[in-house]
Amino acid sequence: MRHNEAAWIDSPYADLTTREAPMPTPGPGQLLVEVHALAVNPLDAIIQSNGTVMYGWLNYPVILGEDVAGVVVEIGENVTRFTVGDRVVAYAMGLEKGRDAVSESGFQAYVVVDARLAAALPDAMAFEEAAVLPLAVSTAAAGLFEIDQLALDYSHLGDAAPRDEVLVVWGGATAVGGNAIQLARAAGYRVITTASVRNHDEMKRLGAEAAFDYHDPKAADRIIEAVNGSVVAGILAVAVGSAEPCLRIARSTGATRIAMASPPVSFYGQPRRRGPSLTRMRLFLRLGTRTALLQLRSRTRGIRATFIWGSAIATSPVGPAIWGDYLPETLASSGHRPYPKAHIAGDGLPAIQAAMDTLRQGVSAQKLIVTLNPISVGS
Ligand SMILES: NC(=O)c1ccc[n+]([C@@H]2O[C@H](COP(=O)([O-])OP(=O)(O)OC[C@H]3O[C@@H](n4cnc5c(N)ncnc54)[C@H](OP(=O)(O)O)[C@@H]3O)[C@@H](O)[C@H]2O)c1
Repeated sequence: MRHNEAAWIDSPYADLTTREAPMPTPGPGQLLVEVHALAVNPLDAIIQSNGTVMYGWLNYPVILGEDVAGVVVEIGENVTRFTVGDRVVAYAMGLEKGRDAVSESGFQAYVVVDARLAAALPDAMAFEEAAVLPLAVSTAAAGLFEIDQLALDYSHLGDAAPRDEVLVVWGGATAVGGNAIQLARAAGYRVITTASVRNHDEMKRLGAEAAFDYHDPKAADRIIEAVNGSVVAGILAVAVGSAEPCLRIARSTGATRIAMASPPVSFYGQPRRRGPSLTRMRLFLRLGTRTALLQLRSRTRGIRATFIWGSAIATSPVGPAIWGDYLPETLASSGHRPYPKAHIAGDGLPAIQAAMDTLRQGVSAQKLIVTLNPISVGS
């Protein structure tokens, strides 16, 4: 008999607690995956830090987690692309509105995932290596390709002819940014990015033609100089506070669209408890003011600055194009590299809370991974 366990968040702000969980059953179009490796994302830490301010539809206790890699142990009706025993990487969408934040979330030994948001892994690719991908590659794809974001052309992803159009990625060393660089290159675009100097060589290996240090107060000017009159197809702003310099780049280069992955303020500084807090009030006041100012400054200059929702690809043609067509092929041919590098933060579900705490302190070009030894194999 299989036995399931999860890292639960029992109430808003609470630390994760490991205990038994119901064994999920795959519905039509779903897979039951035995999780061997999972990643922690800023989203998990943000939800835990924010209580009910965001994701107000979550009905606690719930399970967090978006990124899983493991083995398919059961398939639901109408699934044709996978069979039992397949090694896969998948985007667990339980936290999204209308989904089940227990059976469909990643921080557990067995999870059900949408087969359209899963990709087969090549034999040589370790689960922990692949688990870095799901939310990051999906968010990057949403920002680049969704029609209401940068709307870049992804019709020949993987064998697109080179174009003389530039994508600017602010925050290329982030998980989202490093995947965006690779997707944009696969779609034929030139890429200019920012990262700390220690990551510049890595940015070039991913396909960026130039990388500038975002700590340099003149980074935006240097990007404008490097664009040198080329057409800027769009700007992807990743990392807290990245929208402002991106707006400046858009104004000087004629770019008309900015897709933003991050809020203008960090949510990590607030106390993790219910009740009134001056820090929280100030933080949300700053969030409101900066967002309003940014929208005002961009609109008056004819620039569309939109906030990305990574899960948008689940209900648009971008999802199947990335997860069904692009990823299985490019991972098998070592085209798209799992980025960033996996850093094993621990083994077993109880290691997830510490990994989330470490993530709040900041990581550089790394994804924190927790490995799971299957509780039991076979039924
Ligand atoms: N909207 C959505 O659907 C969605 C989905 C996923 C993530 N996100 C957001 O996207 C952001 C990135 O997430 P992630 O998981 O990709 O992050 P991550 O990999 O954990 O980000 C770490 C990287 O951030 C870079 N960085 C830090 N401050 C920066 C700055 N001011 N400018 C440029 N780069 C900076 C660092 O680069 P160096 O090491 O080179 O210094 C570091 O490597 C987060 O804000 C997250 O909340 C949004």
